Amino acid sequence: MKKDMGFSKGLLTWYDKNARVMPWRLPPNSQQEPNPYFIWLSEIMLQQTTVATVSSYFNKFIIKWPNIIDLSNADDNDVMASWAGLGYYARARNLLKCARIIVTQYNGFFPKSYEELIKLPGIGPYTASAISSIAFSKPYAVLDGNVERVMSRYYFVLNPLPASKGELKILAQSNLHTHRPGDHNQAIMDLGATICTPTKPNCIGCPVNSACKAYIIGNAELLPKKLPKKNKPLKFGSLFIGVHPTNGFLVERRKESGLLGGMLSWPSTDWSSRQSSDPPLPADWVPIIGLVQHTFTHFNLELNIFKATIKNSVDPYFFIPTECFNSNDMPTVMRKAFDLYLNSKH
Ligand code: ADE
Repeated sequence: MKKDMGFSKGLLTWYDKNARVMPWRLPPNSQQEPNPYFIWLSEIMLQQTTVATVSSYFNKFIIKWPNIIDLSNADDNDVMASWAGLGYYARARNLLKCARIIVTQYNGFFPKSYEELIKLPGIGPYTASAISSIAFSKPYAVLDGNVERVMSRYYFVLNPLPASKGELKILAQSNLHTHRPGDHNQAIMDLGATICTPTKPNCIGCPVNSACKAYIIGNAELLPKKLPKKNKPLKFGSLFIGVHPTNGFLVERRKESGLLGGMLSWPSTDWSSRQSSDPPLPADWVPIIGLVQHTFTHFNLELNIFKATIKNSVDPYFFIPTECFNSNDMPTVMRKAFDLYLNSKH
């Protein structure tokens, strides 16, 4: 692959003036050393989640746990509650596992090499490239949706995603600015987020338009091509909100593995292709008018919600006292059910 020096040069000149400000990011040409803990934490949060959503969670985490040692000593349930609403909860479980490994096996210091980083829980090729380049200036190109879009337009890659990923990765790696790999990676993500956007790209304002094949041909918006997505199946189920006259709300903690693993949940039926409202524990359950709809990665979900007064808890359910209960500590689908419950009382 022939290196296109113009690409990274134009990109970095643009980034030096236009880098987005983010709480974990050092401005370009800063004399400060990057904080690997901040970079790791932010990159784990940014997997599948937007910069706008991540910022407030990141700030909350670094106030509660300013460094990796504090995080490694955190209470698991406190971390899961602080992650609530961000989704993909395996990320939070792996975050804690990783923090504890860094403290116990690496003396609290992140390894600098891609090969060591990728062995850690929750760190795949994208995150190992991001951390090693941004925190440690190692020459690894990231490939996320932004980079895929920029590369497929610049090089006019007609092969559709996801089959083209390998080719796009080679293109991204071959163009990487080896003296400033971290800034280069962040610049291409910023370019993809602000100029080379999925629809209506601002090609006129693009620092690398003069050599962008899709711009020259005039069809940047049509790339990257993507194979049609499979339709998601629809699943059904019911949630049961049990309230004690004085002791608070009946909940369970979901098992560690699987969907919403480790998170608080209302007692629930299984979620399946057939509607089910068999309560998992007896009570005078009353249906609440309305439906909770939620989209997961692999299915859409529709839930009926029931409420009842409950006097005694039975294993695995337990009461959270009203004064300790915060529906924001629950995953979004459970919080939606609680909002419906609150509305049903008016
Ligand atoms: N998306 C994920 N990581 C990012 C970063 N470091 N800069 C900009 N966008 C990102």
